[in-house]
Parts: sequence; C-alpha cells; structure tokens
Amino acid sequence: MEIAIPDALLDAARQAQHIAVLTGAGVSAESGVPTFRDAQTGLWAKFNPQELATREAFARNPKMVWEWYAHRRALVAQAAPNAGHYALVEMEKRAPRFTLITQNVDGLHARAGSQNVIELHGNLFRAKCFREDVPVPNWVDDGQIPPRCPRCGSYLRPDVVWFGEALPPRALAAAFDAARTCDVFFSIGTSGAVEPAASLPFDALRHGATVIEVNPEETPLSNRATFTLRAAAGAALPKIIAREQWIKNG
Ligand code: APR
Repeated sequence: MEIAIPDALLDAARQAQHIAVLTGAGVSAESGVPTFRDAQTGLWAKFNPQELATREAFARNPKMVWEWYAHRRALVAQAAPNAGHYALVEMEKRAPRFTLITQNVDGLHARAGSQNVIELHGNLFRAKCFREDVPVPNWVDDGQIPPRCPRCGSYLRPDVVWFGEALPPRALAAAFDAARTCDVFFSIGTSGAVEPAASLPFDALRHGATVIEVNPEETPLSNRATFTLRAAAGAALPKIIAREQWIKNG
C-alpha cells in the first residue's frame, strides 16, 4: 500500500532546527531482529525477556542469561541495517541539529552510520563486571560461561539495562533535554511500554514539539501524536527524507 506522507509533516521536518528521534525494536524488525512484545517465534516465544533481563535472573542462572544474550549477539552480528536505519543517517545530515535516542541494544544505528546516538538501554556487544559494575570492553572467551572479570574474577554480564535498573544518568538527561528542546520528535518502532523512554514523546508534546509516530500498530502515543504513520519504518522513513521533498535547510 502506498504511504501518504502529509505535506504538513514534511514542512515541519524540513523547517525544524532540532529533530529528536526515539527508536525501539520495530526499527530493527526489518533487519530480521525480533521485537520484544510481538515475537511469535524463536527464543523470544520460549523466554519472557522480563524474566531473563533482570539482576535476579542472572544471579539465579548466569549461564542461561549469558547464553540468551550470546544468541542475540550472534543474531545481530548476522543482521544488517535496513532502509529505516539509513534514512535516519540521512536525516542527521540534513537537520541543523539532530539527536537520535535508541532503546535498542543492537548497535545497528551506529553500523548504518549514525554519528550521535544515545543508547538508553546499553549495548549487547559490551560487557561489565556483575559485582563492581565497571565496563569491561574486551573479554576473553576461554570457555567459561559467563566469562570472568579480568580484575576481580566475578562474572561478566552484558552492559545492558535490565528491568529494575536505572538508566545511564547522562544518556537519560541528554534524552530528556532533547525531547524538551526539539521542534520535531519522531517516535519510531516502539510500543511505549517501558519507562522512562515511553515518556519522552509526551514530554516533547508538552514542550510544543510536533510529534510524529511511525508504527504499523497502535500505541498509547497514537491518539496524542501530531501525526501517526501506520507503516513500517523501512517504508515510511525513506519517503520522509526523499531528496525532492527535503532539501537541506539553509
Ligand atoms: N517498523 C516500525 N515499527 C514496527 C515495525 C516496523 N517494521 N515492526 C514492528 N514495529 C513496532 C511494533 O508494532 C511495536 O509497537 O515496534 C514496536 C516494538 O515494540 P517492543 O517489542 O515492545 O519494543 P520496544 O518498544 O523497543 O521495547 C522497549 O523493552 O524489553 C525492553 O529493553 C527492552 O528496549 C526494550 C524496551
């Protein structure tokens, strides 16, 4: 089906001095990375992320949790960024100021070429010490699962934000600052089920931004957003940044 992009949406995006974008798992769906809440197949169907992605789950069964993340790393390593990721790289080049905030831990925005990415929930490809919480950028896979911290011998854990944990404070502050100062805020491929990220588009609305949702399904934001595009990110975003529609500002 042809996606119609309203002229008023394009005008708002073209004229914006600062565009902020929040992405969720839906942006990576077209790369073959399953989303969290609507996956019917594979590991996601067998395991509930809310039961695996907690400190308690890791303490109870570190091997199983490490292996779940190792599986996800392998899946993402085989995946490639899609047209939605690449459209956001273009948008960053064209907007005078651009902030990309992602809940995704797959690193696909950076792999596509996005420069300024705020990773609210961490990154699958980094690890940190379970006991001391210090980053361990490189670890040796010597057959121990999970691998051990080279400093203190404790388990390593993925450097992602689990349920019940605080988000990295600087990333969170930068995300809310962007939501409050942008003229246009895109919410793309997120169910809006997990706080505090879910509040960002509502904060942007309260501060007067034009809020645009891109999601094939309805979410709690749909009725409040200025524009809702019921479409896949990989189909809608390239249309929004199509060159004939959007010549760089200034
Ligand atoms: N394009 C755009 N949106 C899509 C697409 C697509 N091609 N395919 C699916 N979606 C939408 C779904 O309709 C859904 O609303 O993406 C959303 C994915 O929602 P979730 O699976 O809940 O993912 P997300 O919102 O990123 O989850 C937030 O929850 O489990 C935690 O930490 C995890 O970062 C994650 C957080």
